[in-house]
Amino acid sequence: MSKTPITVAYGDGIGPEIMRAVLQILEAGGAQLEPEVIEIGESVYRRGHTSGIEESAWESLRRTKVFLKAPITTPQGGGYKSLNVTVRKTLGLYANVRPVQSYEPFVTTKHKSIDLVIVRENEEDLYAGIEYRQTEEVTMALKLISKPGTERIVRYAYEFARRNGRRKVTCISKDNIMKITDGLFHKMFDEIGAEYPELHKEHMIVDIGAARLAEMPERFDVILAPNLYGDILSDIAAEVAGSVGLAGSANVGDDCAMFEAVHGSAPDIAGKGIANPSGLLQGAILMLVHIGQPEAAARIKNAWLKTLEDGIHTADIYDERVSEKKVGTEAFAQAVIERLGQLPERLRPAKFGEANKEPMVPLMVRNPKPAQKELVGIDVFFNWRGSKPEELAQLLEPLSTDKLRLALITNRGVKVWPGGFPETFRTDHWRGRFMAQNGSPNHNDIVELLGKIAAAGMDFIKTEHLYNFDGKPGYSLGQGQ
Ligand code: NAI
Ligand code: MG
Repeated sequence: MSKTPITVAYGDGIGPEIMRAVLQILEAGGAQLEPEVIEIGESVYRRGHTSGIEESAWESLRRTKVFLKAPITTPQGGGYKSLNVTVRKTLGLYANVRPVQSYEPFVTTKHKSIDLVIVRENEEDLYAGIEYRQTEEVTMALKLISKPGTERIVRYAYEFARRNGRRKVTCISKDNIMKITDGLFHKMFDEIGAEYPELHKEHMIVDIGAARLAEMPERFDVILAPNLYGDILSDIAAEVAGSVGLAGSANVGDDCAMFEAVHGSAPDIAGKGIANPSGLLQGAILMLVHIGQPEAAARIKNAWLKTLEDGIHTADIYDERVSEKKVGTEAFAQAVIERLGQLPERLRPAKFGEANKEPMVPLMVRNPKPAQKELVGIDVFFNWRGSKPEELAQLLEPLSTDKLRLALITNRGVKVWPGGFPETFRTDHWRGRFMAQNGSPNHNDIVELLGKIAAAGMDFIKTEHLYNFDGKPGYSLGQGQ
């Protein structure tokens, strides 16, 4: 078998120790790899690259398309961007796959049979990182959920379930509140689900979903979630499995993929030779399956399971009730290597199928028949330091034009005019909703309205156009409207 070139970064903190151990295990386990080493993280940040990565490193990543990455330290303080988010987004790694398993009774946990996989959308949602301070009192972040982004991750989750013999996909959202953004996510889950009749499908609102995951993790199989909920749910799942230090993760895109441990660079134990290399090893095993070396992946995973069974444990999972021997990073790696070729006796042995060469998500074409989009109004946001909605209405009503008429004022999304309650708390961030009258307005009608607002000396800070799509509102109503 010819060797597969991969890009490797040793990272910071415990990174170099655990990467050395993992590469030794991979080599002894028969993985056919040709590692190319790049430098990322602290040392690169210190040389003045605020991104933590240099041009030559990108070149290697784009050539090998496979990245095995040790954890890195993100320097504290402003000006530095998270390297993880940068790599994910630059290489289009839209799917974050995080398997979580329990290894009871060899790793102490309250739940005996956890075997679930979280498929987390990796590029959108609040992680677009588009934030603003708009007034003295009010800040804002944009939550972006796109149709193509959602379609990709939903298909990925279903395909993943089908190809890995999983039975159920649970979609997590908060579409009772965020009807347009999370609503789109849920709707595409239902629509595309029709193409996977053999899979069980369910949807849970994130609050009860998180509660159930903490209390009954055994009932989950594949969990599909938008970026933020997926991030939170993965830590809950890893923690209840008793094994944050044992979990690996894959970040997958159409062209490239990155594999890593879930944990960070653990500066508190760096250089002591006691770190557990298991999380990174799990990431490396996912990598071997991805590049079409499933036999090596299974051999290494089974030797690792046998090592856990034999009670050879690093300090983080050492428990005198079940452990036989406390070992450091190097000795743990040696113990795994000595067990290559053996199977676990009580834990279920790993078996990976031949990697399916079909792309996980077929190339998608833009909808050939887009919805009919019609401008029906505009929301104008004001920084206004008054407190009485009626006074603001008196200022704004005369600014209505022939085409756009003031219909509603809200504060933090709650209707305060016409007919609001004095109890409603108010900030300096107000929204005037101007709806179309006398036919459909155009951009010039909006400019005319904004011209009048500016001439009146009102401090408007932001606008949002209101559109109907195929006659249905593409905007939310004011609370109480
Ligand atoms: P951390 O995961 O590095 O450490 C949390 C705790 O778990 C520490 O007590 C640590 O000693 C322990 N721990 C973690 N991995 C371990 C291992 N393999 N074996 C034994 N014990 C282990 O999280 P923390 O302290 O919040 O972050 C430290 C640094 O890592 C920060 O700079 C953070 O930004 C970075 N980080 C990087 C990530 C990545 O590169 N993917 C992910 C998370 C954090
Ligand atoms: Mg996280």
